Parts: sequence; C-alpha cells; structure tokens
Amino acid sequence: MTEGSPADPAALERRLAEIERDAAAALQGASSPDAKQEARYRYLGRKGELSQVLRSVAGLSEADRRRIGALGNQVKERLEALVDAGETGAAVATQALDPTLPGIPIPLGTLHPLTRMTDEVCRIFRSLGFGVADGPEIETAEYNFDRLNTKEGHPSRDPRDTFYISQLRASASDPVLLLRTHTSPVQIRTLLQGRLPVRIIVPGRVFRRDQVDATHSPVFHQVEGLYVDEGVSLAHLKGVFASFARQAFGASATVRLRPSYFPFTEPSVELDVSCVFCAQRGCSICKQEGWIELLGAGMVHPNVLAGAGVDAARYTGFAFGMGIERLTMLRYGINEIRHFYENDIRFLKSVGR
Ligand code: FA5
Repeated sequence: MTEGSPADPAALERRLAEIERDAAAALQGASSPDAKQEARYRYLGRKGELSQVLRSVAGLSEADRRRIGALGNQVKERLEALVDAGETGAAVATQALDPTLPGIPIPLGTLHPLTRMTDEVCRIFRSLGFGVADGPEIETAEYNFDRLNTKEGHPSRDPRDTFYISQLRASASDPVLLLRTHTSPVQIRTLLQGRLPVRIIVPGRVFRRDQVDATHSPVFHQVEGLYVDEGVSLAHLKGVFASFARQAFGASATVRLRPSYFPFTEPSVELDVSCVFCAQRGCSICKQEGWIELLGAGMVHPNVLAGAGVDAARYTGFAFGMGIERLTMLRYGINEIRHFYENDIRFLKSVGR
C-alpha cells in the first residue's frame, strides 16, 4: 500500500499483521545494537511503516478508524515491549551480572569515641537520678568567673589563659564576652532558675589558651555535675562516684578524695580512681601511683549559692567537673589526646572494640 491510495480496512488489517511479523523478526534477528536501532526506526519510528498505516486511517469510517487505530496501537505496544526486553537482556549480558555473588559491603560510620563516652556518662548519671542540662559556649565573664567567686586578678581570668571576644562588645558597658573556660557557669544559670532541689549534669565543649601536648587541647569537653538540696554532703559526692567508677571502670574500681582548691567550692577536692590498668601495683599510666586523677569537685561555696539566690543556710550542694577526653583516655588506655581530633579511621575503629 502506498500513501494516498484509498483506505481499505481489510488491507490495513493485513498490513498491520505483516508489519508485526516482519518487525518482530527484524528486532529479534538484529545482530548488533545498531541493527536493532535501524529496525526500530524502520517499523516504529515517527515516519516508520506502522505510523504510515496509522496515518492512513484518516479516510476510513469512524468505526473502522477506531478499530484499526486500536489494533495498530496494540501492535506498537507489543513491538515496543520486544525492544525493551531485548535491552534489558543486552544490559544483563554486557554487565555480566552474577546475582549469586556476595554484595559489596558498605562501610558504616560509628559515633566518635568522645560522643560515646559522653553518652555513657549521661546514661550512668541518669540511672543515679540526674537530669541533663546545657548552656552556651559563648559566656559572659560574670557567669564564667564573677558569680563563681573567681575574683578580678585570679590567674584563670588572664587573657593569656582565656579567649575573650572583645570584637562583639560595642561599648564598655556591654557584658564582657568569652569562650567559656569550663562548664561551671551552667551551675549559675541553673540555680538562677530558682527550682530546688537541683540534680543535673552538663556535658559540653570548653576553651582555654592551653599549649597542645599529649594531655592538653585548647578545645576540649567537660561534664559538669551539680547536686543542691537540704543536707547534701561530701559523703554523697563520694557515694555517687563510687557507683560511677564501678559502672565506668569495672566492679573492682574504687575512688579517693584529695584536698584541692577551686574558688567556687569549699572544701575543694580532687577525685582519683584506682588504676584499672595495673590493679594498683603501679604502671606507666598511673605513674607508679596506683591512682589516676579523674576530676575536680567540692561543696558549692556559700557565696556562689547566695549569689544565685539560694538560701545557703538551708541548702548545701556538691559540684564536679571532669574532662571527657581524659576520662576516655583512662578508660581505654589512650596516651595521646590529639588522636581524638585527627579523625584517623584506624584510631577511631580501635577505641573500645
Ligand atoms: C575545672 O574546670 C572546674 N570547673 C572543675 C570543677 C567543677 C571543680 C565544679 C569543682 C566544682 P579544671 O581546670 O581542673 O577544673 O578542669 C577539669 C578537668 O578538665 C581536668 O581534670 C581535666 O580532666 C580537664 N582539662 C583541663 N584542661 C584541659 C585541657 N587543656 N585539655 C583537656 N582536658 C583538660
């Protein structure tokens, strides 16, 4: 049939059957992707044989036009399915997919050792009845020092020890801002809320102008603790840490208190944990002492309580601050703090595995 000849429905029907037979043979018999593409254009292309037949239905009656049109579309769909099936088959063949091979493992990330240690500290203190609070990393000198009974002239206030942010200060009457040097200002923020008793821990990042060495970093992490109620004593602090040490370091771990000094606690102590690496026989990690320093602590100074609106005659409390890096180093016998910040995957994988 040629274009322009009068349309005969029976002839068109036969023609469709022929096209389907020839196109299927050409598509299936194509020896290369190019040959297949060529067959596709010839039979199914916009100017291909099938389109010609479908165009010539214009001269038919309405009923024949619908019938032949529908038949033509069915042929087209069947042929296109044949092309698609061939393509999938070809893709499988060229990629040589072997579905029985084991998959390629995708390496999974894990939490950073410091995050895991912080989570564990929070879990242990939650089990002892403490809640978790937080506070800002940019603090005022008032909260970081003054209200913590750390007077003008105290060495920790020196700009050689503390990062001040004087750029943010428009006038001399604005508050002095700094990067907090410890998590202790959150004690003040919490007490000022005026809800007693208080039993919280505060994990967070702190900043000091410390020289980097194996145990010091200018940015590190602390967990603050604060327990204020009627009748709280140093014995409660020791009891809480006896339990903490057993959970964090094993059933045989014990703690001891040594006198120390902080402006915001009175009395002040340092808390040591028995060396878990040598069972207190003396080793390089505990420097032959059998004990390892864990944190600074003490009874909250009455000036601090009163300054935050707490009746210091009625309430007492203990507070502590421990370094998360140091705790993680103790726990896993790590001797270099810088490992935590270098993101060497071999180190990260080795901690606690
Ligand atoms: C304090 O920061 C007190 N705020 C702790 C405190 C809180 C005492 C409440 C009493 C009551 P100190 O400066 O000792 O104390 O620091 C606490 C811990 O932080 C240290 O024991 C140590 O584990 C860790 N630390 C201190 N400086 C660094 C540093 N540069 N790098 C890593 N860890 C550090």
